[in-house]
Amino acid sequence: MIHQLTPLTPEQREIQQAARDFALTEIAPHSAAWDRDQHFEPALVRKLGELGFLGMMLPESLDGLGLDTLTYLVALEEIAAVDASVAVMVSVHNSLPTQMILRWGTDEQKERFLRPMARGELLGAFALSEPDAGSDAAALSTQAVRDGDCWVLDGTKAWVSSGTHAGVIIAMARTDRPDNRRGARGISAFIVTPDMPGFRVGKKEDKMGLRASPTVQLVFDNLRVPAANLLGQEGQGFAYAMQSLDNGRLGIAAQAIGIGRAALEYSLAYAAERRQFGKPIADFEAIQFKLADMAKGVAAARALMHATASAKDRGEPVTLAASMSKLLASETAMSATREAVQIFGGYGYITDYPVERLFRDAKVTEIYEGTSEIQRVVIARQLYAGTRHQATPPGGVEANRIGIPR
Ligand code: CAA
Repeated sequence: MIHQLTPLTPEQREIQQAARDFALTEIAPHSAAWDRDQHFEPALVRKLGELGFLGMMLPESLDGLGLDTLTYLVALEEIAAVDASVAVMVSVHNSLPTQMILRWGTDEQKERFLRPMARGELLGAFALSEPDAGSDAAALSTQAVRDGDCWVLDGTKAWVSSGTHAGVIIAMARTDRPDNRRGARGISAFIVTPDMPGFRVGKKEDKMGLRASPTVQLVFDNLRVPAANLLGQEGQGFAYAMQSLDNGRLGIAAQAIGIGRAALEYSLAYAAERRQFGKPIADFEAIQFKLADMAKGVAAARALMHATASAKDRGEPVTLAASMSKLLASETAMSATREAVQIFGGYGYITDYPVERLFRDAKVTEIYEGTSEIQRVVIARQLYAGTRHQATPPGGVEANRIGIPR
């Protein structure tokens, strides 16, 4: 592993190795074909579940592995370095729906959903965005109306990863009334399953990258959700979604770092082999500088992600650091894959080699789970929330563990 600075425990190394071995044997041989055919492999979900990769942060008492955030992200990077489509499925499932039910679910909801989710029998998805509510997530318009012992949901959710195969979807919908809108506080979270009357998988997107990860619209047409499937408190759904995205954004950081690292590793190998002007192209400074910048970016992004994960595992707030991690990692992935294509030259532009897929896969990390622009909004708001706009001399500013004044 290039520039893995965090000292890992023997257990963390074991999980890392298990994830790497699984990815290389069960995923790598199929990745190019799955990408070409936009193929999602349901058998892979069961295999991931059997090894515990779909319950990584769930407690052992609920059939999970009981790992901390750092170990989870170390494993996720290994999967992402081989296949970013599989990585997003693993990331969304582990970071969002399972954690939301664990944190805000009733005992009955936990028993019912988390065990099969940990075992890979039910795949999780997260449905916040809508066709007209992306960055402005609080503007979502799917309406939930109470009717006896059900909530009736109407609307269309968009950009739902794994949506074709999800068995549990945490869906955000408005529970405030049209004549008394309450903004972000009028949104609630529901546990939706595809067998509920009124549920339909809508348009499947034909994407530039992550083609083996199905991204769909979900149509709720008078969808009847039992009242027992409200998650947590009515009106708290947006706050739950935002808090959960702190986890989610760390997962996307791990995905992006895996992509960037793969770009670096393929480039190192290719530059050592490829000969032009009578010598390996790795002997040219123009290539060396690209490789150096790629390695520097991946190492820095990984170090920030690991530090953020450790802060989270200590119970510290990480909204700021998670957004910084996701931003740095996704921009690193984009620049590393762009340079990898350049190092490969013409061969980087064709599907015979893997770097064009890495380049396509990297782009979405700058878009989903909050665009790079939204990460900068979150970061700037957090900085100002901490300093209250005061002009404080540098020596007088309290610094948190990642060195950002607050
Ligand atoms: N933790 C806890 N609470 C939070 C929070 C956080 N990180 N962020 C916001 N909140 C709370 C606020 O405290 C506020 O609560 P009160 O009303 O009680 O004061 C409420 O949520 C509203 O917050 P804001 O006023 O900050 O809301 P906003 O409308 O200005 O939006 C935003 C903030 C950061 C722009 C947010 O809309 C956002 O993150 N947008 C991006 C959406 C996004 O990331 N979508 C990802 C889709 S999921 C996906 O891509 C998954 C996939 O399948 C891969």
